[in-house]
Amino acid sequence: MKLDFNNMMAEFVGPHGITPAAIAAIEGKIGEAVKAMEIKRPQMQWRDLPHNQGRVVEEILEYVAEMSPKIGALVVLGIGGSALGPIALQQALNSPFYNLSDDLRAGRPQLFVLDNIDPATIGDLFAMLDLETTLFSVVSKSGATSETMSQFMIVKQMLEEKFGKEGAAARIVCTTDKSEGNLIKIAQAEGYKTFVIPSGVGGRFSQLCPVGLLPAAFCGLDIRALLAGAAAADSACQNPDFWQNPAYIFAILHYLALKDGKNISVMMPYADSLKFMADWYAQLWAESLGKKFDNSGREVFVGQTPVKALGATDQHSQVQLYAEGPFDKVMVFLGVEDYGADIDIPETFTDMPSLGFLGGHSLAKLLKTQQMATEYALLKAGRPNMTISLPEVNEYTMGQLFYILEVATAFAGELLEIDAFDQPGVEEGKNATYAYFGRPGYEAKKAELNARPAKSPKYIC
Ligand code: PA5
Repeated sequence: MKLDFNNMMAEFVGPHGITPAAIAAIEGKIGEAVKAMEIKRPQMQWRDLPHNQGRVVEEILEYVAEMSPKIGALVVLGIGGSALGPIALQQALNSPFYNLSDDLRAGRPQLFVLDNIDPATIGDLFAMLDLETTLFSVVSKSGATSETMSQFMIVKQMLEEKFGKEGAAARIVCTTDKSEGNLIKIAQAEGYKTFVIPSGVGGRFSQLCPVGLLPAAFCGLDIRALLAGAAAADSACQNPDFWQNPAYIFAILHYLALKDGKNISVMMPYADSLKFMADWYAQLWAESLGKKFDNSGREVFVGQTPVKALGATDQHSQVQLYAEGPFDKVMVFLGVEDYGADIDIPETFTDMPSLGFLGGHSLAKLLKTQQMATEYALLKAGRPNMTISLPEVNEYTMGQLFYILEVATAFAGELLEIDAFDQPGVEEGKNATYAYFGRPGYEAKKAELNARPAKSPKYIC
């Protein structure tokens, strides 16, 4: 995997780029962040996942071998960090038509990851599933998230009505904390199979534990190779020389760009397989770095808004803005050297030079050329951008990519002097939901909601 950040530097991109002097000016800060990463490593248990999941992998593979012959579909009930990693990995490594084709699945179950509670979607899915052969995987670190627990309550009742308690228990697996929260208590009482999200591993940093490993293994992915890629990335991410550390330099360049008013970080993969990697990154970057207070309790209101794009699709949608709009963005391209497939463009219309030039090339070549051309267009327009290139999209490189972006996020948190691992801004909405639903203990919040001025009809059309 390569990270090419030449186009972030003023030497190449011009005045909106980063100068060596700007980096030199924060070398003290960088040094402190490097030290903090070392000191805090024992609390960042997610960093150990590439090394300590060996036994868990064995258990997952045994469970998958036992269950696979019995199931036709796996439905993941979860949201946010419990859903986005599994979706990103499945999209990256299995065909986009995996669910539609028995041949592509080769005996493996279909995979559905809900990641929401829209009744229309869930109703349609349930109407289509054969419950007899569906396994439901409930994933929640806290065991308290309203969306996931509601999905679970609906599924539990549906299965118990059809199969009785024992039959339902055979069709439910839970991934959660080993002792905290409601889900583990319910799972133990009901006799569900469980997998553990280790303590110190928050939702958006949980892809390399059973949250990501279990669905991946069911879908035939090599989870050992995924962890091996992450382990290799861990070595690279321990290099104290930030120029040689892909996570640190990624974070440093984003930090400096942010200080220079680049409030938006666009991730633009040039591969459909990586489309949902941009979704996963968006959550990681937004929820980790968007913070009101710094570590000493001062109001800072920091963060960088992540935007998801896809090449070449969004060349015809967003790139106009990126090339000519405000200088408020950093672009991160994800490129792939070998797509693992290619289709030749036939040499037709040779009498029409404005079309004939395409003939004799291939779609992979066209897509890569589109990427190079967009990078060039943005460079020419003075827009800082960097490119992460994967030799191919496989389990190993995906493990590297997940891990590097996680460490980059943690390091950016250190530079910003904020806690990258909490999400207090999400709590207000959660608490208001509890209050609207009349959850005991939220009476004061309900009163606060009721005390708001009534909405004026003049603002409603
Ligand atoms: O990253 C996070 O912590 C969140 O996005 C969580 O993953 C999300 O809120 C779901 O939480 P839980 O796993 O506790 O159900």
